[in-house]
Amino acid sequence: MDDVKRVTTQTLKEMKARSIPIAMLTAYDYTSARILDGAGIDVILVGDSASNVIAGHETTLPITLEQMIYHAQCVVRAVTRALVVVDLPFGSYQGNSQEGLNSAIRVMKETGAHAVKLEGGKATVPALERILDAGIPVMGHLGLTPQSIYRFGTYRVRAQSAEEADRLREDAKLLDVAGCFAVVLEKIPASLAGEVSRSIGIPTIGIGAGVHCDGQVLVTHDALGLTTDFNPRFVRHYARLAETISDSVRAFVADVRLRAFPGPDESY
Ligand code: KIV
Repeated sequence: MDDVKRVTTQTLKEMKARSIPIAMLTAYDYTSARILDGAGIDVILVGDSASNVIAGHETTLPITLEQMIYHAQCVVRAVTRALVVVDLPFGSYQGNSQEGLNSAIRVMKETGAHAVKLEGGKATVPALERILDAGIPVMGHLGLTPQSIYRFGTYRVRAQSAEEADRLREDAKLLDVAGCFAVVLEKIPASLAGEVSRSIGIPTIGIGAGVHCDGQVLVTHDALGLTTDFNPRFVRHYARLAETISDSVRAFVADVRLRAFPGPDESY
């Protein structure tokens, strides 16, 4: 019998109430999702960062809804405990709340994921209200929202000016009142993230937003050291897998050249 207690949006609410920090990582495939889930991650984000770390694009803009659905299907097949949240990709909800609803319904119906994530504040509210009205849980995303990178023109820390900080405070309240179950705060000053976390009812999940958020998220490829050319200060490397893989591949090539692999025990 399956006695695994699933993480739900309610679990995250309770964790915030009990000051238990929430741990979230990204996954895009079955094998990694299975390892993350087995290791006790609370939330798995099928992030549109797949556009960068899986497809090799410079930005998150090119990834399509079909591709996000494919990644989410692979992840959902592996997960027995974590809450699975899927990014709605660029162009699948901006400026058209009906299209946003259709995109969210496709994600939920075709993947079996538990929630969707949308980037943006006030401008996103019509889409997220429609999605929430359809019974689909929504995670918000404020601060450095990578789908707007060409508007920002730079990946530097957001909300450093009083004006932008005020807008972020307002947006966080709007998302809370609209009914989001959590909000990602990306690359904003730690003091502002702490203030927002204390002032809204829903959990905040920080990335480059300091220790006072209600949870933390990293892109798994960064945290495990699979990406070697992306080293912002907010990334902590919990492993150096690129080196491990590279050493292993070199050892395999050497063994093959020397006819040292396969050995008798590895042959029929
Ligand atoms: O796409 C992603 O991986 C994200 C995280 C950086 C929060 O949105």
